[in-house]
Amino acid sequence: MNVEQQVATHYTRGMLEQKILGALRSAGKNVEQLSSRDLELLDNLHVGGREAIEGLAGFMELSPGMRLLDVGCGIGGPARYFAERGCQVTGLDLTDEFVRVASGLTRLLKLDGTVEFRQGSALDMPFSPATFDGAYMIHVGMNIQDKVGIFREVARVLKRGGRFAIFDLMLKGNGAIEFPMPWAVNAETSFVSTVQDYRQALERTGFRIDHERERRQFALEFMEKMRERASAGSPPVLGVHILMGEQAPLMLKNVNQAMAAGALEPVELVAIAG
Ligand SMILES: C[S@@+](CC[C@H](N)C(=O)[O-])C[C@H]1O[C@@H](n2cnc3c(N)ncnc32)[C@H](O)[C@@H]1O
Repeated sequence: MNVEQQVATHYTRGMLEQKILGALRSAGKNVEQLSSRDLELLDNLHVGGREAIEGLAGFMELSPGMRLLDVGCGIGGPARYFAERGCQVTGLDLTDEFVRVASGLTRLLKLDGTVEFRQGSALDMPFSPATFDGAYMIHVGMNIQDKVGIFREVARVLKRGGRFAIFDLMLKGNGAIEFPMPWAVNAETSFVSTVQDYRQALERTGFRIDHERERRQFALEFMEKMRERASAGSPPVLGVHILMGEQAPLMLKNVNQAMAAGALEPVELVAIAG
């Protein structure tokens, strides 16, 4: 298996949509009348959940009708967030099951008129040049070694002057991290890089960096709130464990420890296509 096949296998659970709908019903939700808020605990596969997207959105200069590309869209939480703010969103993801679940949930929320999903690689996007007004990528770069390759593709499909927002976990300090992590069970498919690597790759592909912010404290506080919620009562029915499988607690513990120790930091970067 090549790296992309390994990455897609890592994220594939099997019967994921049924598992999600089952969990929603167990949590007392009517799946015929869902809102994006009902899904927020399980459809944001990144530290900081919906709050992290809200933080990033403030730097994206969004406008109604804007055509946005979501690189590595997962099951579509961020895409539906931006669709509800009036954007026309296209999500691209390597993992076929995620693309199918993203489409199914989006139909349930009646957002399928403004969001569509495609299966494909960020390194070889199925889009024509200058298709999008803006793009974003949330917790995806950790799975892709060739950062220049991703950013070159984003630069190709973005219109000149378009904003590209990134929110990824980046290496800091001596960078010693323990596996399994949520994005990889071992170092073979983990390509966490430093913010300097991201900056260089963006500049090499013609982007100008407009915003940079590290979000470590925010992420640690968010994870603490999640833990308090979990220990306050019975284990939560809704959560990213549905997507991450049985190693979820260890993965979340490892990512939290790496952030607390300063080996990993979540960073926002927004760059403008030249
Ligand atoms: C941690 S999840 C984040 C999903 C989503 N961005 C979110 O925040 O909810 C990483 C996603 O990146 C996708 N991915 C990894 N490598 C990719 C590649 N080369 N091309 C497209 N998608 C990729 C995975 O399939 C997975 O859905």
